[in-house]
Amino acid sequence: MATNERPLALQAQNIVKRFGAVTALDGVSLHLADGEILGILGDNGAGKSTLIKILTGFHQQTSGELSIHGEQTLLRSVDHARALGIECVYQDLALANSLSIYHNMFLNREIVYPGPIRFLNHRAMRERASQCLEDIGVHVPSVTMPVERLSGGQRQAIAVARAVNSNARILLLDEPLAAMGAREAGLIIDLILRLKEKGGLSIIMIMHNYAQTLDIADRIMLMQRGRVTYEQQSSKTSVPELMDIVRREYRALREASNGERA
Ligand SMILES: Nc1ncnc2c1ncn2[C@@H]1O[C@H](COP(=O)(O)OP(=O)(O)OP(=O)(O)O)[C@@H](O)[C@H]1O
Ligand SMILES: [Mg+2]
Repeated sequence: MATNERPLALQAQNIVKRFGAVTALDGVSLHLADGEILGILGDNGAGKSTLIKILTGFHQQTSGELSIHGEQTLLRSVDHARALGIECVYQDLALANSLSIYHNMFLNREIVYPGPIRFLNHRAMRERASQCLEDIGVHVPSVTMPVERLSGGQRQAIAVARAVNSNARILLLDEPLAAMGAREAGLIIDLILRLKEKGGLSIIMIMHNYAQTLDIADRIMLMQRGRVTYEQQSSKTSVPELMDIVRREYRALREASNGERA
């Protein structure tokens, strides 16, 4: 299945997900090589977030199989996926808004002093959070600030920083550049490319902007109505080609619905 010799970080075969009468995923297969960045594009409601939520253990598939680092696995929960090195930044951000930046960055993996009573080591968490944000070029006045006082883009950056800070081997990003201005989007793109350079991390990112996706991703996948309708190495496709595919699909749908009405 892989297009090169690298081992697979993740493989999904024929994933179907139904919510009652709604079929959100209708037989999706994908693979992600070690160190690869896969960009997923597609319309609203195409099933992109649902796919990510299955890969991160939040939802379980109705049918189909998943392998993580070569082992067939049924992901039971987000904690289970996390234990296997899968971290996610959700589209509907999972930050605790009333807590500080550094609390958020260490949520559920707090640094504690050694000993039977697990006192939180706030100083260590503040220092590490500041260092991590500085490393990735995210500027905030202070890591003790509550997240609710940040802009949408800054919040997104904190969520990405938290995932990156966790030693993940597979990182899933659901529209990481949504709500971001050009400068902040540029920061996150740089960060992702630097992580790739460092090695040891495979990334799936859902994206909206075709040009940005082709810039960052090694390979892109187009999803339409619960299916993968196109897949290609980024170097072998272009923004006009992708727009053309989407336009053709849209026309076919419109003609079909006109036909029904006639
Ligand atoms: N928890 C749920 N219960 C019922 N239906 C759902 C649920 N989650 C998603 N769906 C449905 O599944 C389909 C795919 O939704 P999904 O959120 O995966 O789309 P998406 O590609 O991420 O869209 P967007 O670009 O708008 O984020 C939609 O029809 C949606 O209404
Ligand atoms: Mg979505």
